[in-house]
This record gives sequence, C-alpha cells and structure tokens, in this order.
Amino acid sequence: MAKKATFSSKIGLVAATVGSAVGLGNIWRFPAETQTNGGAAFLFLYILCLIILGVPVMLAEFSLGRGTQSDAVSAFSKLKPHSPWWITGGLAVLASYLILCFYMVVAGWTFEYLWQSITGDLYAVNLAKDGMDASFHAKMEEYICSDLSPLINIYVLIAVNIVVLLCGVQKGIERLSNIAMPILFILLLVFCGVSLSLPNSFEGVKFFLTPDFSKITPSVVVNALGQAFFSLSLGMGILVTYSSYFPKDTKLTKTAFTVSLLDLLVAVLMGFIIFPAISSFGLGNAELRGSTLVFVTLPEIFAQMQGTQLWSVLFFLLLFVAALTSTISIAEVSIAWIQDRFKKSRMVATLIVMLPLFLFSSLCSLSFGSLNSFKIWGMTIFDFLDTVSTNIFLPTVSILTCIFMGWVVKNDFFKKELTNNGMLKGNGYNLTIAIVKYLAPPLILLILVSFFLKL
Ligand code: PFF
Repeated sequence: MAKKATFSSKIGLVAATVGSAVGLGNIWRFPAETQTNGGAAFLFLYILCLIILGVPVMLAEFSLGRGTQSDAVSAFSKLKPHSPWWITGGLAVLASYLILCFYMVVAGWTFEYLWQSITGDLYAVNLAKDGMDASFHAKMEEYICSDLSPLINIYVLIAVNIVVLLCGVQKGIERLSNIAMPILFILLLVFCGVSLSLPNSFEGVKFFLTPDFSKITPSVVVNALGQAFFSLSLGMGILVTYSSYFPKDTKLTKTAFTVSLLDLLVAVLMGFIIFPAISSFGLGNAELRGSTLVFVTLPEIFAQMQGTQLWSVLFFLLLFVAALTSTISIAEVSIAWIQDRFKKSRMVATLIVMLPLFLFSSLCSLSFGSLNSFKIWGMTIFDFLDTVSTNIFLPTVSILTCIFMGWVVKNDFFKKELTNNGMLKGNGYNLTIAIVKYLAPPLILLILVSFFLKL
C-alpha cells in the first residue's frame, strides 16, 4: 500500500488548514452578521464561541484524524469496528460533497469578477443612467442568472482544482497554501491600510468597535455559534482528513489555536476593511448580506476610488485565493475517502470525485437561471444544498463527533493525542475533553433546533 501522505512542514500544515478555514465565511458572512447583530457585541460573542467551543471541537477532529491516520469515514470505523459509527463519517463526506457542489458556483463568480476586473469590463456600467447601486446590482444579476457564462468559470475552476489535487498533499495542497496564504494576508493588510486612510473612515471603525449589547438575543448567540462552526470548517470532515496528514509530533492544541486565531484575524481585518469603507463612501446602510457585499457594494466603493481597476483586481484575487483553498480542502475529504476505502490511486480518486462536479455544479448554477423554477422543498437546488448541508448536516456531524470522542472512544485515546502520548504537560487537556463531552453536544444541538424552529 502507498505510504500515508503527510504535510512536510509545520508552516505548510497550518497554511493548508487556515486555507480551508478562511473563505467566504470570513469575507462576506462575518461582516454581514456583525452589521446586523450589534457590531463589537457580536464580535465578542463570536470570539467566545471560537475559544470555548470552536477550539475544543477542532481538537476532537484533529485527534480523530491524526490518531487514526485515516479518512473521515475510516477514522470512525477504525476506532469502533463493526458499529454504525462510520455513518457519522459518511455523513461528513456527503455534506462536504454537497457543499463542494454549490460552493464551486460561488467560487466561479469570484473568478469572473477577477477576470472582469482585469479587463475593466466590471466597471463598464451605465452609472449615470441607473445610479451606482442599481447598476452593479443589475450587472450581478445578469451574470449570475445567465446560463452559460457562469458555467465556463465553474469549469475553469474545477480544472484548476483537479490540477492541484492531482499533485497530491505536499506538492499540490501544501505548496499552493504556502504561496496563497501569505498573498492573502498581505492583500488584507494592504486593504486595511487603504480603507482606514479614507476620509471619514473613523465612523466605520467606531461602528465596528462599539458594542450594542441590546441586539444580543438568543438567536444572535446561535448565529455566532453557527458562524464559528462554519468559519472553522468544523463538521465537514476537512479537519479529520487534513489532520490525518499531520506528523505525529504536531502539537495539536497549538495548531488549533493558531488556525483559529488566524481565521479570526481575517474576519476582524475584513471588519476593518468593510466598515470604514462603507462609512467613507456614505453607504452606511448598504446591505452586506449574501453576495451583495462582494459583488455590489465593494465594486461601488472601488468605482469611487482612485485606481479602481487595481484595487478591484487585488480584491477579487484575494477572494479567489480564499475560495480556491477552501474548495480544495473540501474536495480532499471525498478523495481521501475513495483512496483509502477503495484502494484507488490518487489520480483515479480525484477524477471520480471531480468529474461528476461538472454536472452537479452546473445544475446548482442553472438554478439561478433556466432551472430557477425547479424547487425541492420550496428551494432552488442551490439553496436546498446550502440549507441542508450547512444547517443540518454540519451540526449533526459535529454533535456525533463530540459524542464519539467524548463518550464512545476510550478516554485515553483523546488525551493521548492531545498530549502527544503524554509528552506534553499542561492543565488544559482535561478541560478540553470535558467541553467536548458535556458542553459541546447540547450547545451545538441548539444550532440544529433553532434551524428547525425557524422553519
Ligand atoms: N471555513 C470555510 C469558510 O469560511 O468559507 C467553510 C468552507 C466552505 C470550507 C466551503 C470549504 C468549503 F468548500
């Protein structure tokens, strides 16, 4: 059997894991949640959720993956053979694949906007006639709802994914992450500097950093929890899969804190980019929800800045990089499973996973166009996959993983992984295990229940 792949360096494994975590969750979901949920009050809650829950659950996934050196499904069956626990891993693989299908569509949009920024076409709108907001809205809708153009971008993106994934863990995923992540952070810092130096930017900073605790309701707490889970890529099988490539001497706790902090840093930097910019350009009431922020509000801002095209190219490059490293991580879940389970070569496994995407992602994309009237439970294909996977599958997988690591597997397995077989000393390990056992399952259940109650 082929030797188990590993990341070749600590920086590489952190870069790859951060690459997975940093995605559209940080870039467009976080500012939107912060805007509607009390500014710094939401940020404060979010940080609490990350530390109290996100890091321990991440550690449960890391321990499962690194301890078994297996894909997301075999990790469960190795520790509890002849039991139905493998189904949890199966659910993670299914969820990750469903997410991949629709996320590829959004990643394709980022590629189109990058391309249109390079050619300048993005700004060829009749601003005088319709006004800036309407023009960029119309442009986005025209593009997203058309049948053909988005497909071309999706196919290019799938092809780029295939190339990176075929190159393997070290030469593909790790190498890309080592290049992409520093670029992403540099671009974020540049944008932060630019945004903060705009006239009247202080108003935005004030909004972002002034907590409005009156906005904190139980549903906001649940949102913060959900955002923390999505942003850290928990419950998708990604962290189990990536940590199976961690060398045995990796310090899991340190890695989990580093990844969570960098992920948080990106979200906070986005806050320092978005809020000052919208206050500076008098767009204080701009809608930051969904695709509007990146595909309407930001182009509006760039259009009013000097060096429109340069900023636009750099921003959509940032977004594209963030989306690419996330799609790669999520595709790797299914690839690793097929490689391990069916003993296939990396090439065959990659093709089995990626080729059907040409069809599935096309269907998701067409659900904004010709297939818009085709509904499942009253939702378009895109919305259905998004809703089912993020709101139902992810929390379910996370709860089951915590129960598995906290209650089902022998307790010393988790502790041995956390302490690298007793080599690392400290007091936090028992606390982590206690959180995974007692606190995490009921709190994550809240996310699930709140979704069903809202329905
Ligand atoms: N943590 C990612 C994000 O914030 O966007 C979540 C994710 C989504 C990872 C989709 C991978 C992916 F394909």
